[in-house]
Amino acid sequence: MSGIRVLPELLVSQIAAGEVVERPASVLKELIENSIDAGASAVTVTLDEGGMRRVQVEDDGEGIAREELPLALARHATSKIRSLGDLEGVATMGFRGEALASIASVSRVSIASRTRQAPHGASITAEGAQLGEVTPAARAQGTTVSVADLYFNTPARRKFLRTEATEWAHCEEAFRRIALAHDGVGFTLTHNARAAHRLQPAGRRARVEALLGDAFVQHAAQVDADAGDVRLAGFAVRPAYAAEGPVTQHLFVNGRYVRDRVLAHALREAYRDILHHERQPAYALWLSLDPRRVDVNVHPQKTEVRFRDAGAIHQFVRHAVERALATTASEQPAVSAAERLGIAAAQLPPRGPRTDAARHGTPHTFTGGEQRAMPLDAEEPAAFYRRLFGAMDRPRVDMAPVSVADEGSDAHPLGFAIAQLHGIYVLAQNRAGLVLVDMHAAHERIVYERLKVAFAERVPVQPLLVPATFAAEALEVAAVAEHGETLDALGFDVSPIGPATLAVRGIPAPLKDADAAALARAVLHDIREFGGSRALDARRDELLATMACHGAVRANRSLGVVEMNALLRDMEATERAGQCNHGRPTWFQLTLADLDRLFMRGR
Ligand SMILES: Nc1ncnc2c1ncn2[C@@H]1O[C@H](COP(=O)(O)OP(=O)(O)O)[C@@H](O)[C@H]1O
Ligand SMILES: [Mg+2]
Repeated sequence: MSGIRVLPELLVSQIAAGEVVERPASVLKELIENSIDAGASAVTVTLDEGGMRRVQVEDDGEGIAREELPLALARHATSKIRSLGDLEGVATMGFRGEALASIASVSRVSIASRTRQAPHGASITAEGAQLGEVTPAARAQGTTVSVADLYFNTPARRKFLRTEATEWAHCEEAFRRIALAHDGVGFTLTHNARAAHRLQPAGRRARVEALLGDAFVQHAAQVDADAGDVRLAGFAVRPAYAAEGPVTQHLFVNGRYVRDRVLAHALREAYRDILHHERQPAYALWLSLDPRRVDVNVHPQKTEVRFRDAGAIHQFVRHAVERALATTASEQPAVSAAERLGIAAAQLPPRGPRTDAARHGTPHTFTGGEQRAMPLDAEEPAAFYRRLFGAMDRPRVDMAPVSVADEGSDAHPLGFAIAQLHGIYVLAQNRAGLVLVDMHAAHERIVYERLKVAFAERVPVQPLLVPATFAAEALEVAAVAEHGETLDALGFDVSPIGPATLAVRGIPAPLKDADAAALARAVLHDIREFGGSRALDARRDELLATMACHGAVRANRSLGVVEMNALLRDMEATERAGQCNHGRPTWFQLTLADLDRLFMRGR
């Protein structure tokens, strides 16, 4: 080492630039945010070569006074806060006063601006933080900041830039985030002289449709909840569609795009029950709260936040989204089976005169694409299912087979059973047409929701006349001793009768017809997987889901019309009945119009 020295100003800025100005997209973000902070109502973005050649942002905001132009480029110069007190309640996007200085230290910047009061505009240029003269410029009110040749003076940094296509993709994403957060502002985005986006200020829904696609909005549940001064609004995609389309996870806090662990976790929890674990939830949500309750000064890029009461926010967000997604089968918009099975209109033979392709084409079959995960068990009688239903002491509605005349009244949106297909699907007729139900998936959800209710009290135990014993691993035996309380609470009576043998003497009453040993095994497996009892608490729902899977009616069991109708009625009365616990759909509607299209039948 060679003694301590104060770093030259330019180097300090360049070091800071490493934090704020990672790539062209970060320049773009900072510039657009400045325009928003300046109260712009229209922002025009022009990019060349993925922003590496040029990032230019023009706005019609309040402008910068001529004599302040050099200050805008100085480090730690800001018009947005004056004191620590201001920092605590900061409502602007920027406040650190270092973005422009950092950007200017690693590029060629020019700023032209005019305030409302000024008789004419002025401009300034800077190259590697070397400020030029302020000169007059002809322009309307507002500001244009142009950043050219990013990293022209820092070749080491330049090497980290990726291809034009990659940098452009990052820029577009940065643009999308800000444009989503500010639907009251009009935006245009042009890349290499080609228009990419033109967005009118037309409200959140229109903005989301324009940027995330119509399908996203169509398949989303609307979220709108508030508690005191905290509000959450936006869209959360229904689970059946979560796998389709790109994973969209947009979270905004007070108009700022954030990546926050507390919120992301709350969202995962909200989806946990209904989304297949391999799938990602998709959402675009806006949280607003008193700025004093959230610290945005955690990270230079300001994408991280810190909530003063993270626990309360977590709970609020989780419940708000859970509620939005927990629509019962009757509230949920019917899903077109043709759409789900990919027999979209485009693939169907056109209406009207038949084409050769249509005449000779192979018929579409509704075999679906999904492999059945459940083992087929041909032995169990239908009575099992009836007993299972009876076990929960719920009002039952027994229906006789229906005539066409009274099919699908509004009280019974899933209609009435007409047949069972291959021991797997229930076919029902409702007003719209045909309803297809995956019997196991649907019943699994019903059992699960009931278990949750039962667990809130204490799951009653059904003692077994003959204990079920099974050979267990040492760790399983240990888990029984260690997690006795949890097993009690879940309605199990299990104890070791030898170093490697467990006896099940009681199982949860709601599942009294399940295979006791297999059920106990599965639950012990989960308990071991999840570890300590605090983890168990948090994963209670997963345990209940495991139990529900064991308790639900298996495929290949024949059901009578009465039982099938009871299943339909229970689905209508059960929250989240549209998906099984693993996020698979439980039923589809095949409308008469769908059928007509399949048969090319003009109506
Ligand atoms: N588009 C703009 N319109 C009006 N003023 C601007 C604009 N861009 C920058 N400024 C001014 O330059 C200052 C410095 O900007 P910046 O370096 O991004 O810091 P910060 O946004 O954190 O204040 C801002 O505080 C603002 O006064
Ligand atoms: Mg700024």
